[in-house]
Amino acid sequence: MTQRTLVLLKPDAVRRGLTGEIISRIERKAGWQITALELRTLDAETLEQHYGEHKGKPFYEPLVEFMASGPVVAMIVEGERVIEGVRQLAGPTDPIAAPAGSIRGDYGVIVRENLIHASDSEESAERELKIFFPGRV
Ligand code: TYD
Ligand code: MG
Repeated sequence: MTQRTLVLLKPDAVRRGLTGEIISRIERKAGWQITALELRTLDAETLEQHYGEHKGKPFYEPLVEFMASGPVVAMIVEGERVIEGVRQLAGPTDPIAAPAGSIRGDYGVIVRENLIHASDSEESAERELKIFFPGRV
């Protein structure tokens, strides 16, 4: 089942020089391909669309502020079961709860600064890819 997913390497990953390391983990998975990749600083409107499901939650405002605090690496990754697969590579949202070997488990401490976003379902992937790569859908 070939899928497409949206991956964002968040501003903390870019600032800390971890993008190469994270991209390598994705590239090494057999049969997955990065088909778009761009360094981009996100504006408020894009973030509101992307994180709309969290609007009104206590962590929403600081999350959006953090996500606009520097450039992110936005990617389309395609391949077999890639939606579930990148979520598995990323690990759980809270880096302290994430196992060693996962990206968040290996490099993260703070929930907000958890290095990577990956679409969580086919529906989310379709919605998010339209926001970030409207020309590619
Ligand atoms: P969420 O969609 O729940 O997590 P995930 O990125 O694993 O799909 O939350 C979106 C982002 O919001 C999450 O990556 C980090 C941030 N966040 C917080 O800062 N505090 C929180 O309590 C939660 C749940 C998320
Ligand atoms: Mg989510």
